[in-house]
Amino acid sequence: MSFDAVDVIRTKRDKGELSDGQIDWVIDAYTKGAVADEQMSSLAMAILLNGMNRREIARWTAAMIASGERMDFAKLSRPTADKHSTGGVGDKITLPLAPLVAACGVAVPQLSGRGLGHTGGTLDKLESIPGWRAALSNDEMMRQLEDVGAVICAAGDGLAPADKKLYALRDVTGTVEAIPLIASSIMSKKIAEGTGALVLDVKVGTGAFMKDLADARELAETMVALGTDAGVKTVALLTEMSVPLGLTAGNALEVRESVEVLAGGGPADVIELTVALATEMLAAAGVTDIDPATKLQDGTAMDAWRRMIAAQGGDPDAELPVAPEQHVVKATATGVLSTLDALAVGVAAWRLGAGRARKEDPVSPVAGVELHAKPGDQVAEGQPLLTLHADDATRFDRALESLANAIEISDSYTPTPLVIDRITA
Ligand code: URA
Repeated sequence: MSFDAVDVIRTKRDKGELSDGQIDWVIDAYTKGAVADEQMSSLAMAILLNGMNRREIARWTAAMIASGERMDFAKLSRPTADKHSTGGVGDKITLPLAPLVAACGVAVPQLSGRGLGHTGGTLDKLESIPGWRAALSNDEMMRQLEDVGAVICAAGDGLAPADKKLYALRDVTGTVEAIPLIASSIMSKKIAEGTGALVLDVKVGTGAFMKDLADARELAETMVALGTDAGVKTVALLTEMSVPLGLTAGNALEVRESVEVLAGGGPADVIELTVALATEMLAAAGVTDIDPATKLQDGTAMDAWRRMIAAQGGDPDAELPVAPEQHVVKATATGVLSTLDALAVGVAAWRLGAGRARKEDPVSPVAGVELHAKPGDQVAEGQPLLTLHADDATRFDRALESLANAIEISDSYTPTPLVIDRITA
């Protein structure tokens, strides 16, 4: 049966359901270049405005998986589990989490991306470690999973190429914010990656993709259903992202904090979320008799980190780079720090050089924001609240502009839970 791009666009424009045949055809034809960018962007906009039902989303996801290779870890001697975060400010959790879960006997095949906009990318963070390389062949990845139990590397071009092309198009056509397209984009990559179990960290709040709890819940439920239907044991946590995670946002700054967590210290919220996600990953992979918190205390997670970094050419003992320029932001009043807005801190870190505006831009390993207090802390006028780090002091003014309304000091603070809810199939 033959299809026509304009008919497919009209179907969705007129609020109809796309047939399985239409979806398979349009994804395949777009990947091969037979459907033009302007036609696909029109279809993406129709989907953003009119949605897709569960069958359409599942078929769309399957068609994107079928556009490329599918990895298979069945030959590994241990079960696999992965985590995906929808992205937040200071979200370095993958760094301590992957070696921690490996230290508990479950292999973590984490294919990561680089950051775009105000949320950092895991690969950018790890590249601040001297010698570390993100690109691994499939054979190298498999060997490292068997020997070390954890890999964090760049997704190869063979994985869901339809998504790669479509995501870049959505980025420049105002069509990123469509829940069916976000869910199918994330899940096509994770299902093609071949993990046996998947834990989704869906962030909610000012610093997150999803600012609103209802949207975050819908995204989480859609992704959990897609994973479950594809035979991947999938669970989601909805977690708070109105305040940066931990005390750092920036590449080398976040690696340093992650190493503190692996050494048994570090900020309470980073430890809490790392342990909560590790517990979910282990349970989803069938391991329920190990408390991951003990592996942070007894040094075994740190051993796995050191082996994971060294296996990819990194020197776990190397000094991390430090910014030549620093600027301290002080408290303007005495009281309780009641707001420290995640989006503003993320934008400040980005303007300092930690993130990129276009995907081909370089990032600074040393730039970012260090927090000296978190909401709920008592602060005194004149006390340092933040230190801005940059290669170049001319970056400070624009970063300070983004922080202009980010900080509030008052006489009370109502804490909110870090883990808001848990979504299962
Ligand atoms: N991350 C993805 O991989 N895809 C999206 O569509 C949005 C976020």
